[in-house]
Amino acid sequence: MKEVTKLLTVITEDEIKSAIANEARNLSKAFEGQALVIVAKLSGVFIFISDLIRQLKIDVGVQFVVNLSEDVNNEIKKEKVKFDIGIQNSLKDKNILIVEDILDAGTSIQALYDFVAKDKPKEIRVLTLLDKFKTKRNISFDYNTLFKVENDFFVGYGLDYNESYRGLRDIYKFTNENEGN
Ligand code: IMP
Ligand code: MG
Repeated sequence: MKEVTKLLTVITEDEIKSAIANEARNLSKAFEGQALVIVAKLSGVFIFISDLIRQLKIDVGVQFVVNLSEDVNNEIKKEKVKFDIGIQNSLKDKNILIVEDILDAGTSIQALYDFVAKDKPKEIRVLTLLDKFKTKRNISFDYNTLFKVENDFFVGYGLDYNESYRGLRDIYKFTNENEGN
């Protein structure tokens, strides 16, 4: 049997750029004259954030976290979710924007939200690049998303499959199937 990998463009670089510009305008207006700290879990989100912060017209800090219980396939067990924040600046009384690459079951972002909320920030907003909106989930917060997507697997623009494809400029639907004999 032969393994066949297919990549189908679903969101182009230009569409991503204009959605980010629009979101950055809204955020810059909402937090005008104030500081904002972006909190994000590595690694999928790093390209999204680097484009976003360069469009923001406000002062932005970035605090990355690592999910110590996530394996290479992003499989996590909620009871085991544990973050490592490295050198931590307190988030107390700050405006926080949690940024996620993909909202799927919501397990990881809910754990990150709870982790951030413990520090008692002034305000917490949540932004995701993609939202697998048909997935059933139970989350305790509102969020903004740039693109609603089907329950497929996506790569590119920072998103990986086994650490491949992160450098692609567009976002693709990824399939990997055994075909023929
Ligand atoms: P959740 O906890 O189920 O919401 O999982 C979200 C995390 O799983 C994301 O931060 C991604 O790292 C990963 N993930 C979920 N769906 C995809 C996908 O389609 N492509 C790449 N990574 C994904
Ligand atoms: Mg991954």
